[in-house]
Amino acid sequence: MRQSSLVVVANRLPIDDSVAPDGACEWRRSPGGLVSALHPLLRHAPATWVGWAGGTGPAPNLPDVDGVRMRTVPLDQDDLRDHYEGFANATLWPLYHDSVEQPQHHRRWWEAYQRVNQRFAEATAEVAEPGAVVWVQDYHLHLVPGMLRAIRPDLRIGFFLHVPFPPPELFMQLPRRAELLRGMLGADLVGFQRAQAAHNFAQLVAKVLDLPATDRRIGIDGRVVRIGAFPVSIDTAEMAALAARPDVAARARRLRQDLGSPEHVILSVDRMDYTKGIEQRLKAYSELLVSGHVKVRDTVLVQVAVPSRERVGQYQILRERVEREVGRINGEFGRVGEPAIHYLTQPFDRAELAALYRVADVMAVTPLRDGMNLVAKEYVAARVDDAGALLLSEFAGAAAELPQAYLVNPHDLEGLKQGLLESLHAAPADVRARMRAMRAHLHEHDIRAWARSYLRALDETGALVDRLTSTGDPATPPVPGQPDRSGTPTGRPAQP
Ligand code: ADP
Ligand code: G6P
Repeated sequence: MRQSSLVVVANRLPIDDSVAPDGACEWRRSPGGLVSALHPLLRHAPATWVGWAGGTGPAPNLPDVDGVRMRTVPLDQDDLRDHYEGFANATLWPLYHDSVEQPQHHRRWWEAYQRVNQRFAEATAEVAEPGAVVWVQDYHLHLVPGMLRAIRPDLRIGFFLHVPFPPPELFMQLPRRAELLRGMLGADLVGFQRAQAAHNFAQLVAKVLDLPATDRRIGIDGRVVRIGAFPVSIDTAEMAALAARPDVAARARRLRQDLGSPEHVILSVDRMDYTKGIEQRLKAYSELLVSGHVKVRDTVLVQVAVPSRERVGQYQILRERVEREVGRINGEFGRVGEPAIHYLTQPFDRAELAALYRVADVMAVTPLRDGMNLVAKEYVAARVDDAGALLLSEFAGAAAELPQAYLVNPHDLEGLKQGLLESLHAAPADVRARMRAMRAHLHEHDIRAWARSYLRALDETGALVDRLTSTGDPATPPVPGQPDRSGTPTGRPAQP
């Protein structure tokens, strides 16, 4: 078994199997913020990524992806239903997002969560070399740090939560709250997106486990666990270089023509998730069409909503409702060849996403609650022309870093409508000044800065930080006409 000095552990691997038009299995980069953040960082690093490849068959033997070893962890039908769809995505996900949907509790789900976390911990223990740094990601794997420490006390273990960590009133509802907190405290460093989340965690640890806790340090079993905020980011330079490519600019111009050369293009790009505020946005848009403030003749809305967690009931209901509403709005307001909403559910490669960002005069990112929201950051990075207005929810983690965006409360329908109109009709000079300030922020606070600050806090020797944050040169634009380095689709490794 080959071992690595850096092991990333995340429920999802950075590639996902999908079926190509000829029926063959094809591996593509998985959509979702966690993969978008870590994939560019680890590219060409001597690391192993432990995760699930999607599906419920035996774990496929995947080849290295851009130099990173893939260690697959299998999930069977019961694990998929009870761990991934159940405890992770029907208990924790809604609870952590302000309970915008009702979290469900089943004892069987908890058993599966423990079992799968144990499997991840054992797989990680096999591939980590002595003294390695292990970086556990997200809410699917809260118990892994504790389980891993029990097997391999020699490891330096970090945990990072990509989603919000809720206030005590909500977290206290969890029947197994003490076990979850104790699992996270197996780490040496527990990182969150926001300082408020670290504060919530410290309060809970003090209350539930009766341990000494501040917003920076927690004492447990004679060890100190550090906690803190490390807002995640994107590969700003890579997105900017992609968006500046002549072929991407040409594609953006073509897209605008294909959309009927409207005066205004509004774009939203979401996973199909009830936290993203898609229904509220559609309602606001529909009311603006009814009142005549927005006219199909000169404005189009492009809504990209890639299906997600499709067997979970709440996601099925959401998709049906969104599609019914898009159909209703198009039926009522569209004309032949001129739909009010262009609705797309396909995954796109990075170049196509960059072209979409470049064509959008207004990018509407209006989640009800979001740990960070990388789409908002990608849009800013892609606007190398300093144009484009970002309409951003106050409840996305990104809002704390991008206060120059047009900020809205997506629960306030009138406010959302006003925000849409304000960003549609903003003075170009105002739009440019805001965009420039946001671009400057992201230039400094990119994915490497995130990794540096987290890993410096985790691995005080600094060796790992230097290796990870100096590999490759993401600022070098790919050669036009060559495949996109960001890797979608990633090609077709042999199937086991
Ligand atoms: P979440 O983490 O909840 O999925 P984020 O906005 O943080 O939300 O991250 C979503 C990531 O998925 C972004 O990097 C975005 O570019 C990517 N993504 C979203 N929709 C698509 C799509 N249709 N095709 C390809 N990538 C997508
Ligand atoms: C969010 C979560 C990630 C998850 C991603 C996609 O970004 O924080 O952990 O991977 O959504 O969701 P999925 O269920 O498809 O992995």
